[in-house]
Amino acid sequence: MNHFIKTVALIGSGNVASHIGKVLIKNNITITQVFSRTSENAKALARQLNSEGINDLSQLNTNIDLVLISVKDDVLVDVANKIPENKAIVAHTTGSISINVLKRFKFHGVFYPLQTFSKKKEIDFSTIPICIEAKDESTSARLERLGEIISNNVRHISSEQRKVLHVAAVFACNFSNHFYAIAEDILGENQMDFNILLPLIQETTNKLKHGSPLDFQTGPAVRNDQIVVNEHLKFLENNENYQKIYEYLSRSILNLKNEKEL
Ligand SMILES: NC(=O)c1ccc[n+]([C@@H]2O[C@H](COP(=O)([O-])OP(=O)(O)OC[C@H]3O[C@@H](n4cnc5c(N)ncnc54)[C@H](OP(=O)(O)O)[C@@H]3O)[C@@H](O)[C@H]2O)c1
Repeated sequence: MNHFIKTVALIGSGNVASHIGKVLIKNNITITQVFSRTSENAKALARQLNSEGINDLSQLNTNIDLVLISVKDDVLVDVANKIPENKAIVAHTTGSISINVLKRFKFHGVFYPLQTFSKKKEIDFSTIPICIEAKDESTSARLERLGEIISNNVRHISSEQRKVLHVAAVFACNFSNHFYAIAEDILGENQMDFNILLPLIQETTNKLKHGSPLDFQTGPAVRNDQIVVNEHLKFLENNENYQKIYEYLSRSILNLKNEKEL
C-alpha cells in the first residue's frame, strides 16, 4: 500500500481543484476524472487536464490512488457522503473542516494548501505550506510524498492546528484583501487609481520578513493622533460601513498596542 500516488480524481472544478490539477499533471500524476455538479465546469477543467469530466459521483472510477475533494466548505460533507465506498485515499483541501468528516473511508486525510488561489492567477507551488493530516502512517506517508513533489514546505498539521491557521489566514489574507478593495473604492470615487498604493502595499508585506507586524504598525491610530482620526471619520460620513470599520479598527490597533506593551 505504501506506493506513490500516481492517479487522482478531483472533486470540484474551482480555484483549488484547477491549480492542484495543473501542478499534478506537470509532475506526471494522472488526473483520472474531474467531478463538478455543473457538467460544463467538469468538462472544461477535464479538457485542460487531459481527463474525463463527470457530474454524477456514481460514475467515479474508484480504482485510483487519491480522491481529492475541493468544494465549497458548506457542502463538503454532503458531497463526500455521495462518494462510493472505495480503497483510495479520500482527502479534502479545506482549512476549516476536521479530518473526521471523512472517517467512513478506510484511508482518509487532509491535503490543505495554505495559499490564496484564484483561477486567473498562475501560482508557484514550491513554497506553499502543504498541511497534511492522516490517521494511519501509510496514508500520511503517501500524502507527504505527494506534497513533496509539488512543494518544499510540507507540514504535519492536526485538525485543531489547521483551524487556528485558517482563522489567522482569514485575518492576514482575506481581510487585508477586503481592505484593498475598500481602498480601491475610495480612490475610484475620487477619480484616482489604486495602482498608486502598490509600492506601499508591497513594502508593508516586505517588512514582515524582518520582524513582528506589531513593531511595524504605523498610521494615525497607533500614534493616537486623534485629530487626524476624527478628520478621516468625517471624510467617511457618507459611508456608514466604512466609517464603522475605520473607527473599530483604529480602536483595535491602539488596544493591541497597549495590551502588548503592558
Ligand atoms: N481559494 C483558496 O484560496 C483556497 C485555499 C485553500 C483551501 N481552499 C479550500 O478549497 C475548497 C475549494 O475552494 P475554491 O476556492 O476552489 O472554491 P470555488 O472556486 O468556489 O469552487 C467551489 C467548487 O465547489 C462546487 N460547489 C459549490 N456549491 C456546491 C454545491 N451546492 N454542491 C456541489 N458542489 C458545489 C463548485 O461547483 P461548480 O463547478 O458547479 O461551481 C466548485 O466546483 C474549499 O474547501 C476551500 O476552503 C481554498
